[in-house]
Amino acid sequence: MGMRDCAALMSRSGRNMENQKLKGKSAVVTGARRGIGRAIAIAYAAAGADVAICDIVGEDGLLDKTRTELEQLGSKSAAYVADVSRRDDVEEMTRQVRNAYGKIDILANCAGVWIPGQNLIECSDENWDKVIDTNLKGTYLCCRAAGKVMVAQGSGSIINMSSQVGLTPGAGAGAYSISKAGIIMMTRQLALELAEYRIRVNALAPGVVKTDFNAAFWKEPAAEKKSAAMVPLGRLAVPEDIASAALFLASDDAGYITGQVLAINGGWAPSSSVRSAVSGQ
Ligand SMILES: NC(=O)c1ccc[n+]([C@@H]2O[C@H](COP(=O)([O-])OP(=O)(O)OC[C@H]3O[C@@H](n4cnc5c(N)ncnc54)[C@H](O)[C@@H]3O)[C@@H](O)[C@H]2O)c1
Repeated sequence: MGMRDCAALMSRSGRNMENQKLKGKSAVVTGARRGIGRAIAIAYAAAGADVAICDIVGEDGLLDKTRTELEQLGSKSAAYVADVSRRDDVEEMTRQVRNAYGKIDILANCAGVWIPGQNLIECSDENWDKVIDTNLKGTYLCCRAAGKVMVAQGSGSIINMSSQVGLTPGAGAGAYSISKAGIIMMTRQLALELAEYRIRVNALAPGVVKTDFNAAFWKEPAAEKKSAAMVPLGRLAVPEDIASAALFLASDDAGYITGQVLAINGGWAPSSSVRSAVSGQ
């Protein structure tokens, strides 16, 4: 990738050479092979951070592709194939990142799974476990491991990924909405516990973001039109909309903000709209 491509990457992530808000910081972004995690990792690297990334999927080459993009933005980077729901994976990755950078300033927890159409009483044990283990326990394990490093260094910023359906129920969201609501209380609890160590903990609650995660809402033009019509701002979010908020929360600009949940939903909140968008009702 040439300088021009790097500039394009930076401008896609809304950053430029003059805007090095994370210069000298080190960050870990989970679930960063694609989607929101990738956009956040790129925004952090473009803002001057060294960024380590992980994902449960390594074999499709996307994780390495993201790492290459980060390096081309000047970031010292590393990519780990790790399952955030497994304590051993998380602790080993954290140990390696801590050794490589000497510290962990920022943790952005983006790894997540969504199993659509899972009303709670129809949800299988397997699907419940998968969603809760990945989204809730995985976020916890990463917060705990990186949090210990941050406590020792006396500083840090953690950004957790909740969702609009962590704030309001969504048709068919089932265990997913419960995992995302749990992440909100985890964020508040950690913010309280870690404040004395100058560690800030905040959460983002996106509406519908155009990623492969929820293609049903937007891959077909008719579906996107219907979904976007529910949003007061008239469009669905793109990953960069979430990355710019994650950059703000990670940076010293948000130095007096902790325990908060920032909804990024274009003004769209009612859960009944989700049903209309998907089912046409
Ligand atoms: N896309 C949306 O509309 C939306 C809305 C609100 C919240 N979110 C949340 O944002 C986060 C990112 O979503 P996205 O849209 O980028 O989805 P995505 O599917 O594009 O990215 C999620 C990534 O997490 C990885 N992952 C899944 N399980 C993992 C595990 N156990 N360990 C490590 N990595 C794992 C996946 O392989 C994938 O690369 C998720 O937590 C999701 O719940 C997304």
